Formats: sequence, structure tokens, C-alpha cells
Amino acid sequence: MTLGAVIVGAGGHAKVCIELLRAMNKPVAFCIGAEGSESSCLGVPVLQGDAHLQELRRAGYTSAFIAIGSNALRQRLGASAKVLGYELINAISPAAVVSPSARLGCGVAIMAGAVINADTSIGDLVIINTSASVDHDGRIEEAAHIAPHCGLAGNVTLGPRVFLGIGCKVIPGVSVGADVVAGAGSVIISDIPHHSRIAGIPAKNLRKKD
Ligand SMILES: CC(C)(COP(=O)(O)OP(=O)(O)OC[C@H]1O[C@@H](n2cnc3c(N)ncnc32)[C@H](O)[C@@H]1OP(=O)(O)O)[C@@H](O)C(=O)NCCC(=O)NCCS
Repeated sequence: MTLGAVIVGAGGHAKVCIELLRAMNKPVAFCIGAEGSESSCLGVPVLQGDAHLQELRRAGYTSAFIAIGSNALRQRLGASAKVLGYELINAISPAAVVSPSARLGCGVAIMAGAVINADTSIGDLVIINTSASVDHDGRIEEAAHIAPHCGLAGNVTLGPRVFLGIGCKVIPGVSVGADVVAGAGSVIISDIPHHSRIAGIPAKNLRKKD
């Protein structure tokens, strides 16, 4: 008998991912939440504390999905799960359109209404959120998150752990560096250096906080 997947995370993002996995007929066994989290998440029992990841692996569970919104934390927990010997499964909505020539890593979430176009590569642990689109020849690196309703034109590159807030647009050929955070509704029309925090139309650096 195949044991169900272990979901790391028990919040709102986990709820969406549980429903994606159910829509793919992939059973879910447990969520792992923080200390003090609710005891169940959409009917899935929640175990408290990351130590359960190792305990469930010892008990024979082999597939995991990291349902954590923070890009850096998702990447770290994904690496820990792999070291423990878990396979990171993908959660892809049947209502998403993924080109047959797109290449997907592992631990990827693709929500309903998303479109991934030809010859695009999607790295491990990437989130392509509701109704976002990535056009042809895109390169989305590990643990990036493209929030709902973003639109990326062709030949766009996003570095590792980039976060594009809801409704961002990116014109063709632009490269966005690692760990960039782009505010909701940003329109990105030129290359963006690593670690920038940007927003607006066109997107510009946000003022540094004191
Ligand atoms: C960009 C963002 C991350 C900044 O958050 P923050 O660091 O808490 O910044 P603040 O709210 O203190 O705002 C800092 C400044 O940026 C401006 N700003 C913030 N977000 C902006 C946006 N999306 N567009 C334009 N300006 C924005 C603020 O008006 C403020 O300007 P000021 O310095 O002139 O007062 C946040 O505003 C944002 O847009 N997050 C997107 C969230 C999202 O889409 N989530 C989807 C989850 S699926």
C-alpha cells in the first residue's frame, strides 16, 4: 500500500496545495505545522514540529510536499526533506495549462488557471500561483514564487527565491536577480539586480527602511 504524502506547512498555502494533490488523486497523510497550530487542515491531521518529518520518514513515508510561502524557508525545508530521503512531489492543478515542452523540477506548485508556455524551465520548489502566466523560453529558478495574476512575457529569467507580488508584469527578455521582492502590481521593464526590493510602474527601488 502506498502511504500518502506528508505536507510540510498547515496554513492557507497548504490548504490550496492539499486540494491540488487531491485533484490529482494523490492521497495526503499528514501536515506538519508549527507548535500551537490547529490540529487539522482541511481534514488532514496536523503534527506539530519539524521533528515529525524525520519520524514519518522512519515510519515509511516517502513523498513530501513543502507548502510554505516563504521562499527561503521552503528551499531550506525542501533540502532537509531530500536529505532524509523524501521524494518531493509536484502539485499541479488539472486546470493549469503546462506546455509539453516545459521542464519542471520537483516540489513545484502550479495553481488553477496558470499557463506555462513552450520551452520554459521551472526550478525545484517554485510556486506559480493562480492565473499567473509564464510565456515561452522562461527560466524560473529554484524556490521563486510568482503570485496570482502575474504575467511574464517571453524569455524572462527569475533568479532563485524571487518573489513577484500579485499582478506583476514583466516585459520580454528581462532578468530579475536572486532574492528580489517585487511589490503587488509592479511593471518590470529592465533587468533588476540581486536582493532589490522594487515596486511601481515602472518598477523602481523601494526606499530603505531605517
Ligand atoms: C512591496 C511590499 C513587499 C513592501 O512591503 P513592506 O516592506 O512592508 O513595505 P511598506 O508597506 O512599509 O511600504 C514601503 C513603501 O513602499 C510603498 N509600496 C509598498 N508596496 C507597494 C506597491 N505594491 N506598489 C507601489 N508602492 C508600494 C509604500 O507606499 C511605502 O512607500 P513610502 O516609503 O513612500 O511610504 C508589499 O507592499 C507588497 O506589495 N507585497 C505583495 C504581497 C502579495 O502580492 N502577496 C501575494 C501572496 S500570494
